[in-house]
Amino acid sequence: MHSFGEFRLDAANQCLWRGDQRLSLAPRPFAVLRYLVENPQRLVTHDEMLDALWPETYVLPQVLRTYVLELRKLLEDDAACPRFIETVPKRGYRFLAPAAVGAGTDIRQHVIAGRAPELALLCDRFAAAQRSERPTLLLTGEPGIGKTTLLDAFCDCIRHKNAAVRIGRGQSIEGFAGKEKFYPVREALNSLSAGDEKVRSLLATAAPAWFAPGPAPDPSVGQICEALEELSRTNTLLLVFEDIHWADDSTLDLIAALARRRAPAHLMLLVSFRSDYLEAGHALRLLQQGLATGRREELHLGPLDREAVAEYLRCELRAGSIPAALTSLVHQHSSGNPLYMAAIVDYLLSRHIVKSDHGKVSVSQPIESIEIGVPPGLATIIRLRLDGLNEDDRRLLEAGSISGAIFPAWACAAALRRKLVDVEDAYASLARRGRLLAVAGHDELPDGTRSSFYVFAHDLYQKAIYGEIPVPRRSQWHMRVADRLREMFAGNEASVAHEIAAHTRAGKADTA
Ligand SMILES: Nc1ncnc2c1ncn2[C@@H]1O[C@H](COP(=O)(O)OP(=O)(O)O)[C@@H](O)[C@H]1O
Ligand SMILES: [Mg+2]
Repeated sequence: MHSFGEFRLDAANQCLWRGDQRLSLAPRPFAVLRYLVENPQRLVTHDEMLDALWPETYVLPQVLRTYVLELRKLLEDDAACPRFIETVPKRGYRFLAPAAVGAGTDIRQHVIAGRAPELALLCDRFAAAQRSERPTLLLTGEPGIGKTTLLDAFCDCIRHKNAAVRIGRGQSIEGFAGKEKFYPVREALNSLSAGDEKVRSLLATAAPAWFAPGPAPDPSVGQICEALEELSRTNTLLLVFEDIHWADDSTLDLIAALARRRAPAHLMLLVSFRSDYLEAGHALRLLQQGLATGRREELHLGPLDREAVAEYLRCELRAGSIPAALTSLVHQHSSGNPLYMAAIVDYLLSRHIVKSDHGKVSVSQPIESIEIGVPPGLATIIRLRLDGLNEDDRRLLEAGSISGAIFPAWACAAALRRKLVDVEDAYASLARRGRLLAVAGHDELPDGTRSSFYVFAHDLYQKAIYGEIPVPRRSQWHMRVADRLREMFAGNEASVAHEIAAHTRAGKADTA
């Protein structure tokens, strides 16, 4: 499932959703939309699309135009100022909506159970933003507790209700790209400006280094704040920064400044971080103290209660009622942590221990005798999720994990000494089959090859998988990736010096 704007493209059922409304679409325009969505932010020529979609049939290029017209109508997209499909005159089309990392992949498309009070609170603070009250919220909670899921649901909900809202969302990532200066800010600004000329031209003035051609110094925190306030003058602006426990200092400075500034603005600032990162001396603590003086509020996400677990089971199993003992089993073994809960339910279904047939749930053995592993914990959950993978898939996941929660396929090909095309196919198949991986985007390498990026369903999976690789192999892989980087960027190593150093360090640390 891919999300863009308020829409979701459901490839399995060949349809399009707007919120919970199913929109009908004939197979050919659907295929065009799907191709564009899966190849975002680059020119797709008429020929490419026709070759890819109907290799055996002769289709007139003009026919594509009628499909695109139909799609624009359905998406309420304006050809003159497109949000989604841009026409590149005489050549083809470009899909503009960003392929936000992880967002909108199969991984995210699950029911959200419980959390009604939290969603209501967020919607209430959004209303305050519309009144220029400038609310700031800190969303905290342990890993897997559902911060990202809640943010996804909230963004979908306000987008659905307020066509004019602008949402900028950036995420900090642990790993080699993690500490790049302003990384989440640039991601948020990119998502804001995709398909919005007004935003793009404003940002080109405020942050020429990022949005205008030619060299320019990085914008200052003050300049970014002013540009964002200017943007919020006409449309309410929601800024979401996720997982700021991994953010670089410049991003933290910007967040603190945005939270402290007093000028009225239709601006809501929502930042999330893991509560287990609040050790003394951490930059985040400083940020929190800085924020304490402003109008900020903390929303702490706790475990799901038994009723929410039952709700989740009813939705996942499409059943009107669930045996009480099954709800108790899932609730107790997951301790109300939704990541654990979802993994347990997947396991029970994949092993046919639990079945759902026309809304009737059956359990193949006495519930007391189901062994999930006690105590519930990360190791148990990972074992449940990896159970059933073959050696090859496991090796692919391990090779991915050495680059971090988001990884490029080329690095894995280098680590495993396999051909990039084969590795790409294998990851694409893994992403289709399971809930462990999803496509996060594409990259063009210096030699012109395209390589996909993948993201682990949760960074906890990446950590656990990485931790299980035998040290000598891990170290060899890091060294191979460093070598490949040097080779690919020969003559321009400086641009990837940071990654080369990090892989070399990790490789050496392992052998030390
Ligand atoms: N309220 C919920 N209802 C159902 N499933 C949930 C809910 N919250 C989270 N999940 C599931 O748990 C997984 C982990 O949640 P996520 O939002 O990624 O956690 P966090 O961002 O706090 O680490 C998600 O992939 C989703 O499958
Ligand atoms: Mg998250």
